[in-house]
Formats: sequence, C-alpha cells, structure tokens
Amino acid sequence: KEAKLWGGRFEESVTDAVERFTESVSYDKQLYKHDIMGSKAHASMLAHQGLITVSDRDSIIEGLNEIERRIENGEFNWRTDREDVHMNIEAALTDMIGEPAKKLHTARSRNDQVLTDFRLWCRDAIDKILKSMKHLQISLVTLALKNDGLIVPGYTHLQRAQPVLLQHLLLAYVEEIERDAGRLVDCRARMNFCPLGACALAGTGLPIDRFMTSEALGFTAPLRNSIDAVSDRDFVMEFLSANAITAVHLSRLGEEWVLWASEEFGFITPSDSVSTGSSIMPQKKNPDPMELVRGKSARVIGDLVTLLTLCKGLPHAYNRDLQEDKEPVFDSVKTILGMLEVSAEFALNITYNRERIQKALPAGHLDATTVADYLVKKGVPFRTSHDIVGRAVALCTSKNCQLLDLTLDELRSIDTIFDQDVYEFLGVENSIQKFSSYGSTGSACVASQLHYWTKKLEIN
Ligand code: ARG
Repeated sequence: KEAKLWGGRFEESVTDAVERFTESVSYDKQLYKHDIMGSKAHASMLAHQGLITVSDRDSIIEGLNEIERRIENGEFNWRTDREDVHMNIEAALTDMIGEPAKKLHTARSRNDQVLTDFRLWCRDAIDKILKSMKHLQISLVTLALKNDGLIVPGYTHLQRAQPVLLQHLLLAYVEEIERDAGRLVDCRARMNFCPLGACALAGTGLPIDRFMTSEALGFTAPLRNSIDAVSDRDFVMEFLSANAITAVHLSRLGEEWVLWASEEFGFITPSDSVSTGSSIMPQKKNPDPMELVRGKSARVIGDLVTLLTLCKGLPHAYNRDLQEDKEPVFDSVKTILGMLEVSAEFALNITYNRERIQKALPAGHLDATTVADYLVKKGVPFRTSHDIVGRAVALCTSKNCQLLDLTLDELRSIDTIFDQDVYEFLGVENSIQKFSSYGSTGSACVASQLHYWTKKLEIN
C-alpha cells in the first residue's frame, strides 16, 4: 500500500472498510477544476512571498495543467486510497514533478482548501442556475405572448374565484422565478469570500498574502476570521435554501400544469414531445416531466434538511462530518437545473385549449365580485353589496343559471339598486375589463407587465 500523505505518525495502514467508508473522491472529484484553480493561485502567492521559488511555482503550475488535461481526457487515475480530490491531485502532482509538489501544501490545510474549492464550485453553479432561470422566464413570457387575450378562471381554494388573463397567471410564475434568482444573487455575494490561508483553523505564521489569493480567485476579500473560514457552511445552507424555495415554486407550477392537463380540466394539451405513455393502458398520455418536477422538489428540500441536520450539533472548527456537505449540494444543483430546463421545455410545448376554456368560463360566477364592486360604485357599502350579490348567486343556484341570465326584474327583486347598466359588469368578458388597479388582471395592467418583462428579458 502507498503511504498516506498524512502517514508520518502512523504505524498501521487503515483497513479497507475504513478506506471505503471515509473516501470522498468518488464524488468530490467534481471539484477538480476549482481545486486546480485554487492550487495555482496558492502556488503563485507562495512564490510571490518567497516561500517557494519561481521555478517551483512554474513546475507546479505546469504539472497541474497537465493533470487537468488528463482528467478532462479521462486519462486520470482516480484512487480511492488517496481519499479525496485534493490528495489525489497533490499525490499525482508529486508522482509527476517530484520535490516541488511537496511544497504546494505550505500554509494550507485541506480544511481551507476544500472550502475554497467548494465556494468556487457553488459560485459557478449559481451562475448556471441563474442562466437557466432566465431561460425559463423567457419561455413563460413567450407562452404568454402566444396567448394574448385568453381569459381563464382564477382559483382560490381550488374553487372558481375571479376571471384572470392567462398572461397574468404566467407572469406570476415569472415574478416568483425573479425573486428566486435574486436570492441566489444575494447568496452569491455573501458567499464570495475566500477561506484560503485560514489553514487548519488558526491561520499560519508563514508570511502568506491572503489578499493576493483572494483576488486571483475572483473573491471579494479573504474571510476575516480563520476559525469561521473553515467552520462555516452557512453559505451552502443559504444556497440550498434558495434552491428549495425555487423547487417549491416549480413544484407548484408542475402541479398546476398536471391538473390543467387532466381530462377534468382539459385546459392544456402538452405536445407529445413532452409527454410519456403507459406500459399497459394504450390510450394514456401523461405529463410525466411536470410530475417529476413536482416529485424532484422533494429531493431539493431533502438536500437542505440533510445539510441543516448535518451541521446543527457540530462544534467549531472543522469536523469530518462536514465532508457530507458535498453530495446534497451536488444533488440539489443537478436536480434544480433539470427541473428548470424541463419546465422551460414544457412551457414551450403547451397548447391552451381555447374552446374548452371558453366553455368552462360561465360556471362558478367569476363575475360576482365585479358586480359587488358595481354596487359599491353606486354608493352601497361593500358588506351590504356582498350580501346582495350573495343573494343573487343563491337565486342563480336555485335556477341553475348565471348572474348574466337574471333579468333586471329578478335582480331588482333582490335589491332595487340594480339598473340596466349592471349588464356592463356581468359576464367574464365584461368583468375582466373592469380591473384597473396597479398589478391587477385588467388588460392594460397586464400589457404593461408584459412590456416590462419582454424588455427586461430582451425578448423581441
Ligand atoms: N474531504 C474532506 C472534506 O470534504 C477534506 C477535508 C479533510 N480534512 C481533514 N482534516 N480530514 O471535508
């Protein structure tokens, strides 16, 4: 067996079971790019500070470049007995260039190294997610543009509530994603501080320059406190919280599309390209991608809970438990990227069934609140108008008709305040014209929302 990089004081080698159990290279090798980036910055700083020679630095950087090339070409031999990505790369570098490689770990511990890698990795992951979010927003706005003027029932308690423009609903999703993106941007800014040089936990007496490595790696500044630098995982908690919220948003979107694709609703038809069939029932066409978006949100929530639970009992500073922070993050990022991508694809492949929706609109007295507002305009206190319209709805229920179908005499039998002009407020088409408050579903308001988003997202 090869001697461990930390093997000096050890008289026995670890058992195979311990080796298998403690390794992380099988998954943390994903950090290789950022590990190499961090090591190059570190080597350059060490040389600048006179801690290694310029020629050591050059052979380290050359060696690391070659290792990166090998990893990317699948030529790199990842070894479980070398434990993690950091020691795999350092040991391979030593195999390759010899003595200078042994100086790379000067004034560095894996504790600050892994966090440097991890922060860099998360930073990139956030940038990818942000891009995907924008793409989803564009897809939703595109879907909205394709469905100009379409009125759909708006629901509360999943009961018919008020008419809304479909565009208004679609833009509600866009707003959610915008805040999700904002949370990631905030998280990224708070995350972007450099742990490198914190070493194991206490810093070092060697004359390093933490500002130099921080700047070289694109961080805002080095973290102020070395103990905090190697203990903190709140940057990941925040990241996974943001992902969990996004996942919940996408799950709700998924649920809505699944519901609307049902025979009972029949409001949308997803194209075949985003549907799957049944192995037994020949007639089936299922909206599986959006069901899985709903389903996979569970993982993303679970990843956050894993991380919170992992950290809650840990004393400062580094504990090996913290190695368990990687997989939930990798899983959360991979899952959320998939969810965003597929939601965007689904959005681009939905047809709204106008006829079916049109037919469904008269049911449920969607115009009732508009009529209540009509009475308010005539000077009736809202509570009273609510009661009057409630009684009109009850009359409709007994006659099995809509408010629009009541004659003026029938309406006046409930309250004489009703006038002929009430018919300008009745029916879904009339009703929706009456909305005018800022942010409402009135067509002018929705048009200005749509204008805002097409400009912001640069859609032409
Ligand atoms: N693979 C470890 C992790 O991910 C790296 C740090 C190990 N440090 C240590 N002292 N064993 O957390």
